[in-house]
Amino acid sequence: MAYSPIIFLTFFFNYFVFAFSSNINQGLAITWGNGRAKFQDNGKLLTLSLDKSSGSGFQSKNEYLFGKFDMQVKLVPGNSAGTVTTYYLRSKGVAWDEIDFEFLGNLTDEPYILHTNIISHGKGNREQQFYLWFDPTADFHTYSFLWNPRSIVLMVDGTPIREFKNMEHFGVPFPKEQPMRMYSSLWNADDWATQGGRVKTDWSKAPFIASYRNFNANNACIWLSGKLLCRSDHHSMSSKAWLSQELDSISLNRMKWVQMNYMIYNYCTDINRFPKGLPKECVAST
Ligand SMILES: *[C@@H]1O[C@H](CO)[C@@H](O)[C@H](O)[C@H]1NC(C)=O
Repeated sequence: MAYSPIIFLTFFFNYFVFAFSSNINQGLAITWGNGRAKFQDNGKLLTLSLDKSSGSGFQSKNEYLFGKFDMQVKLVPGNSAGTVTTYYLRSKGVAWDEIDFEFLGNLTDEPYILHTNIISHGKGNREQQFYLWFDPTADFHTYSFLWNPRSIVLMVDGTPIREFKNMEHFGVPFPKEQPMRMYSSLWNADDWATQGGRVKTDWSKAPFIASYRNFNANNACIWLSGKLLCRSDHHSMSSKAWLSQELDSISLNRMKWVQMNYMIYNYCTDINRFPKGLPKECVAST
């Protein structure tokens, strides 16, 4: 299909301003967990729960092709070892696209790991892992995806931690044709999540609970059976900035600070894993 979303967007000049609401239940649907996922506080809060028999999850009602997505998350407090809390965008299909935040739990007072990955046309193996510079279980923090035709940026409280630029001109596939939905879940992964799988889930501490609020997809293009409905918070043309935004030098410096001080794994430096050479996006300069 010779379809270019950029051209389409250019023609799709009009945009729609939707009423903003802080009610998380309007854009999200609970999809599994048999009552373990709950809207609370008049729909302002969503909690996921995990116990020995099941985890739980939800997804966005809409599918999107590009956007800026923010979610405030408070992770499982105390002993969360063995649990994984996910928050990701994913398309359908065999050659799917996916952008992942996965929070790997830990023993009380031991640090969570923020595990990230980017899968393009079914090919992933692009893991980067970080510690956080705060206790993610003590309060809500904002985790964001910026996804546009030029670049994908993962952010924590507005600080970029990772950028995946469009490097199609170097032959690296970039997610830009397939609409993605937002998903989130809390599940047991004690075979690998905590300290390489050595620390198991302590079921006597169940139920494990993660909390969500203020999902914001107000700057995004909604995919409605083949049509794009692009919307923005503001009534000016510049409000579409997110569609072409890349990191400026201040943001790049912030990202370097995070990567120098908090990154604990980077596939781009793992030469043992790629004996035939590092992936193209790791060596190409733009
Ligand atoms: C858990 O804590 C240990 C010890 O501080 C640390 O090595 C590990 O990276 C932490 N995170 C996970 C998810 O294992």
